[in-house]
Amino acid sequence: MKETVKVLISEEQIKQRVGELAEQINKDLAGKEIIILGVLKGSVFFITDLSRRLTMPAEMAFMDVSSYYDSTHSSGEIKINLDLDLIIKDKHLLIVEDIIDTGRTLHMLMERLRARKPASISLATLLNKPVAREFEITPDYVGFEIPDKFVVGYGLDYAQRYRNLPYIGVLNFSED
Ligand code: IMP
Ligand code: MG
Repeated sequence: MKETVKVLISEEQIKQRVGELAEQINKDLAGKEIIILGVLKGSVFFITDLSRRLTMPAEMAFMDVSSYYDSTHSSGEIKINLDLDLIIKDKHLLIVEDIIDTGRTLHMLMERLRARKPASISLATLLNKPVAREFEITPDYVGFEIPDKFVVGYGLDYAQRYRNLPYIGVLNFSED
């Protein structure tokens, strides 16, 4: 099997759009102290580019979670590989994700975060695949709506590879 990557969103397009999202977030959360929460590993490129353009006082935190589909629970299970090291009670939380696909991971993560009583939760995702949604999740900030294709680059991986591509591409497999 040969893998090829075809550019879907260029480096320049990402940069431009991240700037627009930051501008919107700066307006919406102006004057608030926020915690920018990155979901590892996929969101690292997005969170570093986005956070450098945010102007309000901000702390940064990271979580690493995996979701498993479990046929005995309709929503599956979530595994916390790395938990928050900050207290989020009464703080304004900005969750930064790479992509929302079925919505399973964020659905379960947000449930857990809400239990810790932050003042508010906003959700920014670089990519959104609305067609693939199985769990109700409505992001506040979306970089790009994309079709239901498997994409890599700018943080997104296939078997842990391709994260360091500067653009987002569609991964294709072919015989030979
Ligand atoms: P969910 O289905 O919304 O729970 O998405 C779970 C995770 O699957 C995302 O946070 C990504 O890490 C990964 N994922 C979903 N779609 C893609 C893709 O097209 N490329 C790479 N990773 C993906
Ligand atoms: Mg992810």
